[in-house]
Amino acid sequence: MIKITDLKADKIKDCRGKWTIEAEINGTKGAAPGGTSKGIYEAKEIDVEDALLLINGSLKEKFMGREFTQESFDNELKKTDESQDFSNIGGNTSTALSFAFFNHGFALKKSSFPFPLVNIFGGGKHGGFSDIQEFLIMPHEAKSFAEAFETSRQFYNAFKSLAEKRGPVGRNIEGAVTANIRQEDVFDMLLKVAEDMPAKIGIDAASSELWNGEKYVYKNSGTELDNGEQVDFMKEIAETYNLFYAEDPFDQDDFTGFSELKKKIGRRTLVCGDDLTVTNAERLKMALDKDAVNAMIVKPNQIGSVTLALKAVEVAKSAGVINVMSHRSGETSDSTIARLAVNWETPIIKIGLADTDIAKMNELVRLWNLAEKPEMAKL
Ligand code: PGA
Ligand code: ZN
Repeated sequence: MIKITDLKADKIKDCRGKWTIEAEINGTKGAAPGGTSKGIYEAKEIDVEDALLLINGSLKEKFMGREFTQESFDNELKKTDESQDFSNIGGNTSTALSFAFFNHGFALKKSSFPFPLVNIFGGGKHGGFSDIQEFLIMPHEAKSFAEAFETSRQFYNAFKSLAEKRGPVGRNIEGAVTANIRQEDVFDMLLKVAEDMPAKIGIDAASSELWNGEKYVYKNSGTELDNGEQVDFMKEIAETYNLFYAEDPFDQDDFTGFSELKKKIGRRTLVCGDDLTVTNAERLKMALDKDAVNAMIVKPNQIGSVTLALKAVEVAKSAGVINVMSHRSGETSDSTIARLAVNWETPIIKIGLADTDIAKMNELVRLWNLAEKPEMAKL
């Protein structure tokens, strides 16, 4: 139990330049990240100034002097909100407070570390030409987190050098390389770098952003695919490029598309829900009923608290679904997800190489040094 002796909040900027909430409980901080390609079933955010008034006013009054566990603290936030999706007090308000509470009581409990799944080349709403939002790599042969971090960085540098030979390159909000390169060529370049630096390759198609209600619209490559064609396309790239991971290959309402694809490629590839499952135990159960996923993105701010996120993580674990802890595209130096990933034993953490993500990578390096007999997750 932790007795709340001080509770407050102020605003800080995220990596996109947007204000967000940094809460503080008994001197320990926690900040809410923000999404750019958000799912429609996520917890709702409220205006940051309104959130600060709320936290420094009525929420402070409500919590001060009382004792809580993480669960009772998070339950009290949920009860105070009175809505299904945190639309009253805001998922950003509750996430910042829930993170601060977690960080205050944090003790390292486990010693199995996640493999980083790193955004190397990007596009979509995060900025860049590519229709596919993220081309990801995972240094699966790394023997320590520091080695995995180092390989990711070297992979990024090698990929960037290859891209620079073809023309101008940039960097998007997640720190991924951006350039006007056809998606087939991006895959080939990733495979080329992977010959020297062992890594598995994956994508986040962020398909809810491509879906116009009738078709998946690939603006840059000039194609439009209906549901059946999208299944074929995803299967084809998964097989051609030996993808081990495909996140949101279909729109957030298309459980059937996920399920058809999983039938075709699920033995070798993780078919991962993000907008589909939104870290929500109930949405995950719907996905399980349809046999739609074998991996799930874990973004605590999608559901609004540490306790609610853990609920989804536990449902996933008991169904044999791989949990993938994940950053958002609007991050701060808050490293709560790094600590959650280790204590919840998520075998993968999805992350970028923006400075705000380096903070989380560094936290994992520190935790590795604190852990007794640390080892990389078994995948
Ligand atoms: P975000 O999403 O921009 O909403 O954080 C990233 C993702 O789709 O994984
Ligand atoms: Zn995603």
